[in-house]
Amino acid sequence: MIRQFLGIMILLTLIPCQPARSEGSSSVFESRHNLSASGPGEIKSPSETRVCIFCHSTHNTSKEGPLWNHQTTAQKSFTTYKRATMSGQPEQPNGATKLCLSCHDGTIAVGAVRGLSRPIPMQNVGSGGEIPATRKGNFSLDLSGTHPVSVKYKQSTALAVKHLRWPPLDPEKSVGPDADGYVQCTSCHDPHDNSKSDRYPFWKKATFDEVCLTCHTF
Ligand code: HEC
Ligand code: HEC
Ligand code: HEC
Ligand code: HEC
Repeated sequence: MIRQFLGIMILLTLIPCQPARSEGSSSVFESRHNLSASGPGEIKSPSETRVCIFCHSTHNTSKEGPLWNHQTTAQKSFTTYKRATMSGQPEQPNGATKLCLSCHDGTIAVGAVRGLSRPIPMQNVGSGGEIPATRKGNFSLDLSGTHPVSVKYKQSTALAVKHLRWPPLDPEKSVGPDADGYVQCTSCHDPHDNSKSDRYPFWKKATFDEVCLTCHTF
């Protein structure tokens, strides 16, 4: 009896995840990740009307991400975050981080989608079609000043450093490691939704602390 009750309680806490996800996808339209002509940002196409096409398509996509349509970065020697205090060792960008860096490393055209011989023309980009080096969204190949990414967050790492908790705290499982156990750009950011926080771009929760304290105890 008590077991059944607990089962239902657990189900109820899981249900709210569903609407949050679909909301996320729809608001890409109002965000700077709408790179089509209807987008609100400065970097956008003068004529392309499709919104998802810059990142996803339905055919001939890459296995590197879900129906991934952007050319992924060819760079293999990013400077990763390193400090003696760390228990883990960031790897070269993998998983969703590699997808983000397909535009945000500034080496590849924003309109460089698969299957086109020339990138989709874009406004306010650099000479190679990339996010200009003058903008904050161009990270270059130096990730040493960015929170460690493509680093494992597992029980042994968490137990080895005081400031990490285990298991991660978010009951919605929105913030946290990816399915392979890595911290990625998507541990903090949701590329489809810029509506959760007024302060932090494409943030997964309303506040800074709600994101950080999923994994950390400060
Ligand atoms: C600027 C890039 C970008 C755009 C534009 C974009 N997405 Fe995504 N999308 C991503 C990335 C990156 C992932 C992988 C996230 C991950 O692995 O955590 C993803 C994942 C997904 C997934 C898999 C489930 C999930 O949420 O992880 C779906 C479904 C999806 N996107 C739908 C869409 C639709 C529909 C549109 C257009 C309305 C769209 N996306 C536009 C970057 C984008
Ligand atoms: C998905 C889990 C996760 C989230 C969310 C997260 N972190 Fe981390 N953080 C880690 C892991 C794992 C490390 C690497 C720890 C190690 O290997 O020693 C780390 C490392 C750090 C470090 C560097 C520690 C050092 O030894 O140099 C700082 C500082 C930090 N995080 C702050 C933050 C802040 C601030 C936020 C919120 C904006 C945040 N973290 C969100 C998992 C997370
Ligand atoms: C198809 C190219 C593309 C991909 C892939 C992409 N972005 Fe972006 N992103 C952009 C562009 C272009 C902007 C607007 C930059 C500007 O206006 O300076 C942007 C803006 C942002 C911003 C807001 C920056 C600001 O100045 O307000 C964040 C945060 C961001 N992206 C995170 C991500 C993350 C995280 C991923 C991966 C999950 C990702 N992006 C994948 C192209 C991309
Ligand atoms: C631990 C959480 C965390 C991770 C992981 C993370 N970011 Fe961010 N990101 C932030 C915060 C917080 C800000 C707002 C910074 C500020 O206001 O100074 C931000 C800002 C940005 C911006 C806006 C430009 C700027 O510097 O303000 C972009 C673009 C961005 N992130 C992309 C990425 C990409 C791409 C990755 C993966 C390589 C990534 N982020 C990983 C927390 C994170």
